[in-house]
Amino acid sequence: MLEYVLVNIYKYLLIHYTRKARVVYMSVLVTGGTGYIGSHTCVELLKKGYDIVIADNLSNSEIDVVDKIEKITGKRPAFYEVDILDRDGIERIFSAHKIDAVIHFAGKKAVGESVEKPLMYYHNNITGTIYVLEAMLKFGCKRIVFSSSATVYGVPKTVPIKEDSPLSAVNPYGATKLYIEGMLKDLYVANKDLSITLLRYFNPIGAHESGLIGDNPNGIPNNLMPYITRVAKGALPQLGVYGNDYPTHDGTGVRDYIHVIDLAVGHIKALEHMDRPGINAYNLGTGKGYSVLEIVNAFEKINNIKIPYIITERRPGDVAECYSDPSKAKDELGWVAEYSLEEMCASSWNFQRQAN
Ligand code: NAD
Ligand code: UD1
Repeated sequence: MLEYVLVNIYKYLLIHYTRKARVVYMSVLVTGGTGYIGSHTCVELLKKGYDIVIADNLSNSEIDVVDKIEKITGKRPAFYEVDILDRDGIERIFSAHKIDAVIHFAGKKAVGESVEKPLMYYHNNITGTIYVLEAMLKFGCKRIVFSSSATVYGVPKTVPIKEDSPLSAVNPYGATKLYIEGMLKDLYVANKDLSITLLRYFNPIGAHESGLIGDNPNGIPNNLMPYITRVAKGALPQLGVYGNDYPTHDGTGVRDYIHVIDLAVGHIKALEHMDRPGINAYNLGTGKGYSVLEIVNAFEKINNIKIPYIITERRPGDVAECYSDPSKAKDELGWVAEYSLEEMCASSWNFQRQAN
């Protein structure tokens, strides 16, 4: 008990009175913390000694992820089954915990569904974010890391993409990310004591080495790696490669695939640099582009499994090439992606072969 009290006094002093040091210990509210990227980020936060509180409505994740996070880290995060559209529910969390920072993952992310149900996407993602921000302001929480996406670059004119490239939305999902970024910029203008980080993720794949947590979307996956792992498992007969007539080296689409653990570590680096007010956007990617066929080949080779595929029509809305220039995150946050494509393919399969 005494040790607990002393550790917390130490953390408090470190956060509030150590001006020059990076912010090391904080109590972080992780919205969407049982989801794919959120769960990996919770693991990294706990490993680094942060106290975390998860808020998730479990609309796209399972409650047993909390047990799995505990199994991996030996620490059990506080968990609230709460919808970010439930203002009172969010405020109850801020009342019960002293929250120093929010990492805001909660949101819907399926592009096709957003085209079919735009109002649901605008309501869930934008209204939900407004409620989280209102609670932060009410309770004096000044730091937020927001899960943005490479989708805010729309159809990129040039690659690699830098943070000051033109922004546009090509579907309702992308529009929610763009509007929230804009909203956060306006909020900062009105509240110059806030510290806001916009992290624009490229294509997260891979899973924790335990195989306990990973990307396991409901139904038929839209994204490449979950589709490949379902084919590897025999749950789907073959992969459809969406076009081989793009102006790329083998004709198939090129993307910047990044290991989800690298992405998770990026959030910690961001938090460590949020001891001063400001608003900053960073690309989180590797800076390398791989084609669909290169991904299939790498997966087959490292896992020794054949992935049958056929070439199909292009998917509407797809671009030929999309990859990042991640140098701003390196220069300002000291963050670089470290995992190889082989590690991403191996861990994706290690997770999926054990998943239900
Ligand atoms: P995910 O669906 O696995 O996780 C999102 C979590 O948020 C889920 O656990 C879900 O239950 C929860 N959630 C959704 N709406 C909620 C609400 N109203 N209240 C409370 N909880 C809610 O998705 P992910 O891949 O981990 O993505 C996390 C964030 O990163 C999302 O905002 C997504 O848009 C963004 N992002 C993801 C990718 C990607 O390819 N996975 C790429 C770029 C950006
Ligand atoms: C997805 C999201 C986008 C988000 C980006 C980064 C969609 C439609 N778009 O795009 O909003 O910003 O991730 O997180 O979900 N492919 C196939 N066969 C398949 C699936 C995909 O050939 O069954 C190809 C695609 O054409 C593309 C590549 O694989 O060239 C990657 O596709 P995907 O995983 O869906 O990611 P993005 O298209 O980059």
